Amino acid sequence: MKIFLDTANLDQIKEAAKMGMLDGVTTNPTLVSKEKMGFEILIKEICRIVPGPVSVECVSDKAESIVKEARQHARIADNVAVKIPICVEGLKATKVLSEEGIDVNTTLVFSASQALMAAKAGTRYVSPFVGRLDDISHQGMDLVEDVLTIFDNYGLNTEVIVASIRHPLHFVEAALMGADIATVPFAVLEKLAKHPLTDIGIERFLKDWEKVKGK
Ligand code: G3P
Repeated sequence: MKIFLDTANLDQIKEAAKMGMLDGVTTNPTLVSKEKMGFEILIKEICRIVPGPVSVECVSDKAESIVKEARQHARIADNVAVKIPICVEGLKATKVLSEEGIDVNTTLVFSASQALMAAKAGTRYVSPFVGRLDDISHQGMDLVEDVLTIFDNYGLNTEVIVASIRHPLHFVEAALMGADIATVPFAVLEKLAKHPLTDIGIERFLKDWEKVKGK
């Protein structure tokens, strides 16, 4: 499973790259708004550091204006994938952009029908938001399972990005289901490497090593 970092923060992106855990990055307007740099300079810098795709979100609401905005985003760097919220206008824009060879990440996906329509429109990625479904008492990961089954049924090669991941279990379940990509916030990425028994084990080894050193 590829790991994308769900952030627009350069320090976090550099840190994940050092760990060898950076297959791509996903941003959204909320994440970008937390950073101090101007939008285009920030995206350019992220794209320079990240070896894989960097999702950049469109905020226009009509197909024509989404296409225009997406083309501008795509000009920033070769590895930009444009993020488009699923809706009728977004589907129309996705068809045009995918035919032009611009990669689209269809975002804010909360149902299997939305994912299937986006795939048929030619999107490269769909992003089901699991945490936000859990927030309203739905099983977010059930959606991922349904989407994977449907894409498999029809041999669709749209990649599934499990998004709105809130904790390590989302990540592990995504991998067990065979999701293509998990996009994780930096705080979750750090948790993925941790285990209390590992910490206890390290502490014990260090204590015993002190005894060896004294001999
Ligand atoms: O990739 C989508 C993600 O940024 C949304 O996460 O935690 O705001 O639901 P969250």
